[in-house]
Amino acid sequence: MSDSMLKICRAAPVVPVLTVESVASAVALAQALVAGGLTVLEITLRTPAALDAISKVKVEVPEAIVGAGTVRNAKDLDAAVSAGSSFAVSPGATSALLDAADGAPIPMLPGAATVSEAMALNDRGFKVLKLFPAEPVGGVSWLKNVGGPLPQIRFCPTGGIDAEKAPDYLALDNVVCVGGSWVAPTALIRNEAWSEIEKLARTAFLLGKRG
Ligand code: 3PG
Repeated sequence: MSDSMLKICRAAPVVPVLTVESVASAVALAQALVAGGLTVLEITLRTPAALDAISKVKVEVPEAIVGAGTVRNAKDLDAAVSAGSSFAVSPGATSALLDAADGAPIPMLPGAATVSEAMALNDRGFKVLKLFPAEPVGGVSWLKNVGGPLPQIRFCPTGGIDAEKAPDYLALDNVVCVGGSWVAPTALIRNEAWSEIEKLARTAFLLGKRG
C-alpha cells in the first residue's frame, strides 16, 4: 500500500489541498487543476459537499487521481472509501486510524510532525508521510535535518507552503511532492475564476521535482 501511495505522490509535484463548497464547483475546479497539469487532488472532508464531490470528480474528471483529505478517524476513512477516493490523507495518525488503514482498500498518507512520529509510522510500513504543519514545525530545515538519520522516509510537506516556498522543498531528496491550498484559493473558487486557477496550477506543475 505504501508503494502505491509513493507512486501517487510522484505523479505531480504539487497536491492541491481543496475545500469545496459545492459539487458543481468541485468538478470545474478539478478540470482547471488537471488542465494546468496537477492530477493528484486532495478534497478535504471539511464541508458537507466533500464526499459527493469526490464521487463526482472521479466520474467527471477521470484524468484526476482524487483522494480524501482531513481523514481523522475510521469513520472518515470508511466514508472516503465509499465515496470512491483513490487515497486518504490525514493531518496526523491515531492508532485507531492506523488500524483502520491496515484493512482499507486504498493507501493512506498519514501526518507526522516529529521524528518519533515519523519513525513509528515508518515502522508500521509507511514509506511516505505528510509533514504537517510543515512551516510551523521547521519546514525545509526540519526535512534537511531528518534526511540524515531517516534517509529512507519520504515526505509530502504541507501547511504554510506557497509558490515561493515550494521550490526549496521540492529540491530536497526526501521530498516527493508538496501539498497546499495556494493553487485553489477560496476567493477564486467562489468567483469561478477557473482560468486563474489553471494558471496557478500550471505554474505549480512547472516547478517540477528535481531528481
Ligand atoms: C491543510 O490541511 O489545511 C493543508 O495543510 C493546507 O495548508 P495550507 O492552506 O497552508 O496550504
